[in-house]
Amino acid sequence: MLVVLIDLTMSVDPRHPHPHPEPLRGALSGACAFADQALPDPLPGEPFGVLAQWLAEAAERNAQPNPNAMTLATVGPDGAPSARVVLCRGMDQAAGTLTFYTNYHSRKGRQIESGGAVALVFHWDHLDRQARIEGAAVRVSAQESDAYFAGRPVLSRVAAWASDQSQPLGRRGQLFERQAAAEARFGVTGEPAGAQGEPLSQQQPRTDVPRPPHWGGYRVWARRVELWVGHTYRLHDRGLWERSLRPSSAPGAFEATAWATSRLQP
Ligand SMILES: Cc1cc2nc3c(=O)[nH]c(=O)nc-3n(C[C@H](O)[C@H](O)[C@H](O)COP(=O)(O)O)c2cc1C
Repeated sequence: MLVVLIDLTMSVDPRHPHPHPEPLRGALSGACAFADQALPDPLPGEPFGVLAQWLAEAAERNAQPNPNAMTLATVGPDGAPSARVVLCRGMDQAAGTLTFYTNYHSRKGRQIESGGAVALVFHWDHLDRQARIEGAAVRVSAQESDAYFAGRPVLSRVAAWASDQSQPLGRRGQLFERQAAAEARFGVTGEPAGAQGEPLSQQQPRTDVPRPPHWGGYRVWARRVELWVGHTYRLHDRGLWERSLRPSSAPGAFEATAWATSRLQP
């Protein structure tokens, strides 16, 4: 195991022509996009068109189970950052926003509620691309969260009631007891998710498990977006877009200035 880790460390960047063991070289050449890339020159006036295209290409490639996975960093009251992965569930190209769903009482939820400053990172290793977004997170409307929640598999909706996300759990079995209690509360028969062989996403939506009030979406309004593409010899290309946000009269929305664009040295 140790040997494998050392070999991977040596071979992880196939853009660099240093020797590495042939079996690993072969494995990596199937997984990575070796072609050198560059962002459009000049850079487009806004970054979300390229980001939307990258998300679509990552999904089309089918090279990772969750191409919409993004690392979300939040900040605690003491200024210390914490990070975890969430799934991007929506993008508004015109507004420059990304949406994800979670438990508002979770650690990340509490940190967002106390300030709202967040950072997001997508990394598509097989495409040699990274996207970094920094901005302000605000709750989506209750109606929007209801609509998204209603489309989730029924046992996932029950689980949103059963799990006090980020709270301690005495025993693993307690979680299943909590799930069983929530199933009983909502009259849901406790078939394991996907027991009929159907993908979770195709389970019949049911409307009788309402959204918990502490569960819903956050919309991240981007202030700063950096798009990165890999190039040989670390001559990577980095495009930066920045704008200012001012709270608008509409709840949960901002007025944004136009994007200012620049290129960064790698
Ligand atoms: C691929 C992947 C996708 C995830 N998606 C979500 C998500 O969309 N929402 C969420 O609350 N947690 C998601 N999680 C779990 C989080 O990473 C994290 O464990 C959880 O939200 C608790 O984080 P917190 O205690 O910092 O609030 C995901 C984890 C992985 C590995």
